[in-house]
Amino acid sequence: MIDVNIIKKDFPIFNNSEFVYLDSGATSQKPKVVLDRVISYYENDNANPFRGAYNLSIKSTEDYNNARDRVAKFINAKHNEEIIFTKNATESLNLIANTYGIDNLNSGDEVVLSIMEHHSNIVPWQRVCKLKNAKLNYFYINENFEIDEKEIETKITEKTKIVGIVSVSNVLGTINNIDKIIEKTHSVGAIVIVDISQSIAHQKFDVQKTNADFVVFSGHKMLGPFGIGVLYAKKEILENMSPFLMGGDMIEFVYEQETTFASLPNKFEAGTQNVGGAVGLSTAIDYLENIGYEEIQKHEKELITYAYEKLSNLPYIKIYASKNLENVSSVLSFNIDGIHPHDIASFLDASNICIRAGNHCAQPLMRYIGIDSTCRISFAIYNTKDDIDKLIFAIEKIYAKFEKFINKNK
Ligand code: ALA
Repeated sequence: MIDVNIIKKDFPIFNNSEFVYLDSGATSQKPKVVLDRVISYYENDNANPFRGAYNLSIKSTEDYNNARDRVAKFINAKHNEEIIFTKNATESLNLIANTYGIDNLNSGDEVVLSIMEHHSNIVPWQRVCKLKNAKLNYFYINENFEIDEKEIETKITEKTKIVGIVSVSNVLGTINNIDKIIEKTHSVGAIVIVDISQSIAHQKFDVQKTNADFVVFSGHKMLGPFGIGVLYAKKEILENMSPFLMGGDMIEFVYEQETTFASLPNKFEAGTQNVGGAVGLSTAIDYLENIGYEEIQKHEKELITYAYEKLSNLPYIKIYASKNLENVSSVLSFNIDGIHPHDIASFLDASNICIRAGNHCAQPLMRYIGIDSTCRISFAIYNTKDDIDKLIFAIEKIYAKFEKFINKNK
């Protein structure tokens, strides 16, 4: 069993100040090993990878390639060139929409997304669907904040060419039925994009076992540094895709009017790459796997159950999560009728408690549920029940302060 007090010591930020961090869904804290690895890269190996014939550049190239191998092993990719480094999941999703989407969608085709997607998996598709005269459809959620199987069966049709789905909602914490969605999508000959940004710090993802066509995630939500993200795609798909960003190192030959492109993965990695970020991500993967996903899940399941119970005991709180906690991962959204989430977040901050408040880059979901915003707590491996007790204590104090201003007869 995990000893969180020991784990917490691995994260310098918790040793440097006293606070409760409940916003790992936005970005996680980083263990010292990751920070050390990034610094060590810059102190010892820094040079432009792929571009120098000298030893230091070769070392930098090796670091970068090793990081790619590590990510490939982590998600069980068949080939390491199926891993493309990007800036973050948003860039990965834009890459897919602007290359695969533009190249493959035709008039009358359909793209299906879930209503709980992050804006980064909605907005690029709106543009591409308009350009290609394709239709954008959505899987909607039931009163338990889940997507029914019937919704999957009926929304994916012979017209569907692309399905985009988040593995875990960044607002509701709902764990989606990825296997069912992938199976149904493939049965009509379409492809699936799975955004695992909110789940990869908590649950293993195996690209071969799931048979996902595209998978995206960001390093910074899984204990890694900012500025490094991953796009996975099956090799045969990537080989047939147009490049996204154009520039140095993604080319083979450049003529005055024409260019031929490099082979994978370079075709999709234009310009000087973020080697420091890639090695930091690789170390974050080592760190997570050393603890082990089984242990992480056991710990976080306890936290989510505890937080759900404690919040449910406050009669003025409304939680937006499935009642079946088996289908909820590491994120809980809630509101107090009559107190704006931004006020709650600001008052919690006065007690040194960090939560996120707002629409969480999921306005279509908010509109569908009929609200503007929520308070959101999200966990990682370093959180404790004590963090939740402090949150509850602070919420009770805030409610006591605001209660007399709340119109309960509304
Ligand atoms: N996508 C991040 C979140 O959900 C920023 O908070």
